[in-house]
Amino acid sequence: MSLDLVVDRLRCPVCAGALAVESAAVRCASGHSFDIARDGYVTLLGGGGTKVFGDTPAMLAARADFLAAGHYQPIADAVSHAMSDATSILEIGAGTGYYLGQALDAQPSAVGLGFDVSKASARRIARAHTRAAAVVADAWRDWPFADDAFSHVMSVFAPRNAAEIARVLASGGAYVVVTPQSDHLVELLDRVRVDQDKAQRLAQTLEGRFVLESAEDVRFVAEMTAAEAGQAVAMGPSGHHLDVSALRALVSSLPEMMHVTVAVNVGTYRAV
Ligand SMILES: C[S@@+](CC[C@H](N)C(=O)[O-])C[C@H]1O[C@@H](n2cnc3c(N)ncnc32)[C@H](O)[C@@H]1O
Ligand SMILES: [Zn+2]
Repeated sequence: MSLDLVVDRLRCPVCAGALAVESAAVRCASGHSFDIARDGYVTLLGGGGTKVFGDTPAMLAARADFLAAGHYQPIADAVSHAMSDATSILEIGAGTGYYLGQALDAQPSAVGLGFDVSKASARRIARAHTRAAAVVADAWRDWPFADDAFSHVMSVFAPRNAAEIARVLASGGAYVVVTPQSDHLVELLDRVRVDQDKAQRLAQTLEGRFVLESAEDVRFVAEMTAAEAGQAVAMGPSGHHLDVSALRALVSSLPEMMHVTVAVNVGTYRAV
């Protein structure tokens, strides 16, 4: 089971003690116990659980179809390339596990752990790769992962928490983050309101804890159906700012097939 591969990198969300796998649960020495779901993931939310709603099974299924069609393959390639020296990878908000699975394929001796606040997502991450473990946790709370536990942390259009990233990264480790450029999905986002301040905010949140080591510009034109284009918007950084009816209106205003600019930055940061 893939949880066995990473259990020494987990910590108890209640007392921060080390965890071990015991039959169908992970347990700390103080007796806090967390059942391993039949689907192979474990929920490590501390007291009070979480108020964040993760992606629903329907959202994840739509995203999995979109990614399986290969529209974002160049992004996955760039992410895997940025982690070519990885031995242990943590993915924040891993969604379907698409990027983590490919990074592990590219690194045959690395182990991976994807976490997401959505149980439906954790179910998919656990199936994404034989060396990928899945945990339900909230990126905005203390993470249930040990100090210095990972050589690499990554996030693709997902939440980031600079203090926790810095804590769980081993010395010399790297944080790889995919962020949209200003013209990402421009043909679509010109039609709706967008969050243009994202790159600026990233610089601010990482400031003081990380230095940018390298940045790769990934830019191409993808041919998408109207439905796929709607999916690209929904799963991107502006997805949260659009409600269902605005998204539906966008899709119905689009031609059947269209060319869409995909423009992201793959940044590699080192802790200072
Ligand atoms: C836009 S999706 C990106 C998923 C994946 N990285 C990808 O690109 O396919 C954002 C993901 O972050 C998860 N998420 C949102 N808030 C979260 C939080 N506070 N903690 C952990 N995951 C969260 C969502 O459930 C969703 O799977
Ligand atoms: Zn404990």
